[in-house]
Order: sequence, then structure tokens, then C-alpha cells
Amino acid sequence: MTDELIDNFGRKVSYVRLSVTDRCDFRCVYCMSEEMTFLPRDEVLSLEELGLVAKAFTELGVEKIRLTGGEPLVRRDISRLVSDIGALPGLKDFSMTTNGAGLGRHAQALRQGGLERLNISLDTLDPERFKRVTRTGDLQKVLDGMRAARDAGFRRIKLNAVILKGRNDDEVTSLVDFARREQVDISFIEEMPLGEVSDHSRAETYCSSDEVKAMIEQHHELLPTTETTPGPSRYFRMPDSETRIGFISPHSHNFCSSCNRVRVTVEGRLLLCLGNEHSVDLRAVLRRHPGNIEELKKAIIAAMPLKPERHHFTTDGDVQVVRFMNMTGG
Ligand code: GTP
Ligand code: 5AD
Ligand code: SF4
Repeated sequence: MTDELIDNFGRKVSYVRLSVTDRCDFRCVYCMSEEMTFLPRDEVLSLEELGLVAKAFTELGVEKIRLTGGEPLVRRDISRLVSDIGALPGLKDFSMTTNGAGLGRHAQALRQGGLERLNISLDTLDPERFKRVTRTGDLQKVLDGMRAARDAGFRRIKLNAVILKGRNDDEVTSLVDFARREQVDISFIEEMPLGEVSDHSRAETYCSSDEVKAMIEQHHELLPTTETTPGPSRYFRMPDSETRIGFISPHSHNFCSSCNRVRVTVEGRLLLCLGNEHSVDLRAVLRRHPGNIEELKKAIIAAMPLKPERHHFTTDGDVQVVRFMNMTGG
């Protein structure tokens, strides 16, 4: 049996984004609808199943795992899962994307469990606005969480800001200055057409990475980094700071040709591309053959030819994928 995952376009899959819950304590306007319903517990992978999925992937050459959601920190016993995955041989990069609100409580245990990097979503520094974007979130709790993570020893914390025209595009430079002060990295993200949103028109709020970059360049020189990540972010640095600035531009600069990643949804669906529906039901395999890692590996290998060449997101405001991000694993 081959121990590498290669798709039909010669791309090696070395990175898995594992969604551990569809739930979240926030309801960000671009990510969830207000009256979201969540999956019944038996449709969600158990912690044991999630651990086995992670193990199977690392045995197949995956070196990088990111836990996502929903909000991973609302999953009960998340630190146990983190310790189990953190102990897997072969794992070189272990990270989590979080809204940050639970870090005050969890940062220490996560770090002790072997988690290395954190991405924290932060679209605005204005408490009222923060409330409007997240519907339920408390800005201060997130800022405290970010600092708790730093105190717990997390290096290279990265902020993620989705920029919407007329909503928070006036905060681009203050977000950059904040990141510089806090000595963290920051990525600016173009909104993706996942799920139906009711409170804004995506065509009207679309703000390209080039526009965001031009705003920053009025205040700071941006130097391209030589760093090439096979991911969506293009990174720049500033001459007088350690902070790196990333741009995630699914519309204006798609990175599909070098894509190295797959996702596992919280229902155990192995999703081969964020912008397409091609998937394989790993939960069915797990429940037909409980605890059997070889069957799981066979199913993962067999799924590789399904990985599509690219996504076809457009900026005309149409929903191209019916799943919201919380179902996909941001
Ligand atoms: P790394 O793991 O370091 O590459 O971080 P990241 O920036 O990819 O991860 P993060 O979870 O912070 O994601 C930031 C944004 O990038 C989110 O909005 C993601 O949905 C988006 N993103 C991540 N992976 C993909 C992908 O495969 N395709 C596209 N189009 N967007 C992605
Ligand atoms: N488009 C772009 N980014 C999104 N996120 C959630 N929904 C969307 C969307 N529709 C981002 C969040 C978080 C990351 C997991 O995904 O802001 O940083
Ligand atoms: Fe929760 Fe993150 Fe989605 Fe906001 S973007 S609702 S914090 S999962």
C-alpha cells in the first residue's frame, strides 16, 4: 500500500483540516445564519473517531493538521483530543483556528498537549461592531484570550480578518497597527460565497486583497517574503516589524494548482476541496469497521482521484456552495 496521498493532478496531500464541531458560541454574519440548527450528537464523529482519522492521515504521510470548526474550543474534552493528536509520530505542524473566546480557559492545556500555532479570527477592534459582526461575541474576551495564549507560550499567533466593504474596510490600518503592537501576524481574507447570508449583499461588500494591500501601503512598506506556503496566504513583511501580513484571496489569486490540503467535516465527510462537493463518507467506514485503521486508510487513498482541479468561486454574490463555513471546517 502506498504511504503517500497523491491526486490526479500530481498534488501531494500533506495537510488535513479537521473540523471537530459544527457548533460555535458566535454567529458571525458571513459564517452562520442567525437561527442555525446543529447536528445531533450521533451524526458527529466521536473524539475516538477523530483521533483515529488523524492517526490514519499521519500514517499516510500527512505532516500538518489544523483543528477547525465551528469553534473547536466549544467541543467537550477538546484538550484530550489535542493531546492525543499532539502525540502522533510524523506530525510536524499542529494548529487550530479559533474565535479566541475560549482561550482564557484552554490555552495552557492546549499548549501542554502539543498544539503549536493558533489562528484567531478578529475582524474589528470596535466592541459595538464586533457585536454586530459576531452577533454574540465579546471583543474583550477575545483580546484577553489572545494574550492568555501568548502567556501560555504560543508563538506565531495569527489574526484572521475578513474585510467587507462598508463594514470594516476603514479598520484595515488599525488592525495592522494592532498586530504590530501585539507582535502577532495578520491575514486579510476575501469573503467566500459559502451559505446564504441575509444581512449584506456579497457583491456589494466584496473587497479585494489588492484594495486592502493598497490601504496598508499608504502607511507601511510591504516587502514580499520568500516564504512559499502551499496555502492560500501570500505573505509580506514590513521593514521595521516582525509582524507578517498575509492575504487570502480565493477570488483574485486562487492557489488551487498548488493545493496540498483536504478537509474532514464534523460528520466525517472527507471533503476534497472547499469550493466543491466531492466527498467520501469516512464516518460510514468508521462505523462499519470500528477502530480499524487499515479500512480507514484504504478509503482515504481511494478518495484521492476525486480531488477536483480547482474551485470556481465568483464575486457576483451568488452562493456557490450551500454549506456554511461552520459545516466545512473554515
Ligand atoms: P495555515 O494552516 O497556516 O495555511 O493557515 P490558514 O491561513 O490556511 O488557516 P485558517 O484556518 O486561518 O484559514 C484562513 C482562511 O483561509 C479561512 O477563511 C479559510 O477558509 C481560508 N482557506 C483555508 N484553506 C483554504 C482552501 O483550501 N481554499 C480556499 N479558497 N480558502 C482556504
Ligand atoms: N468567507 C471567508 N472567510 C470566512 N470565514 C468564515 N466564513 C467565511 C466566509 N464565508 C473565516 C473566519 C475564520 C476562518 C475560520 O474562516 O473569519 O477566520
Ligand atoms: Fe464561529 Fe468562527 Fe464562524 Fe464566527 S467565523 S461563527 S467565530 S466559526
